[in-house]
Amino acid sequence: MPRKSILDPETRRWHFRRNLLAWFRRHGRDLPWRRTRDPYQVLVSEVMLQQTQVARVTAYWPRFLERFPTVQHLAVATPRRVRDAWDGLGYYRRAENLRRAARHVVTHHQGEVPRDTAVLRSLPGIGAYTAGAVASFAYELAEPAIDTNVARVLRRVFHPRLRKGAAGDRQLWDTAKALVPRAGNTAWTTNQALMELGALICTARVMRCDICPVRKSCLTGRRGER
Ligand code: ADE
Repeated sequence: MPRKSILDPETRRWHFRRNLLAWFRRHGRDLPWRRTRDPYQVLVSEVMLQQTQVARVTAYWPRFLERFPTVQHLAVATPRRVRDAWDGLGYYRRAENLRRAARHVVTHHQGEVPRDTAVLRSLPGIGAYTAGAVASFAYELAEPAIDTNVARVLRRVFHPRLRKGAAGDRQLWDTAKALVPRAGNTAWTTNQALMELGALICTARVMRCDICPVRKSCLTGRRGER
């Protein structure tokens, strides 16, 4: 019986989510941007985290916010000052896009970072991932946020034979959507926990299946029930 029930995708997702959340509540890192729901602060953190390591962002994020405390401050800053504040983070196009996004938010959205993912995606430098991350981490909406780490986790756990390409991406999206519950704190936690699993346990380099909280619902890892 347990074998059968664990094969059912909905049951597998249920077990996965329950174990993932319990693990995250105990072992998730206390990262500075996890203490805020301020949409502008979340936006800045997620743009930084697109291509920069957590340790470096931990140092740069508060400094950037000291220089540009609100979206209005960033919107009126010169490109040069924003570039200087970004110095050391690399991928400098992100800084210019962020400045332009801030101008857009002030000019067209009364200074409020949008909560709608389609509107977020119309801002410079904001793709599907960052739109989902802002909607879920700032507004606690039930939106998936799939970056490369989360995609790897979802593929290993639920879709080990998934092909690369649009159809595969859609499948990952559907699975992530089914995992994220209705809006609220649990939606926030589910997305943070997926990222944390990809960062700490199910990394690109190693799969730490021996200490993995979701190995029983995983279709790739050792000791998973098939
Ligand atoms: N990478 C992208 N977003 C992140 C977040 N909110 N926490 C940790 N790592 C991340």
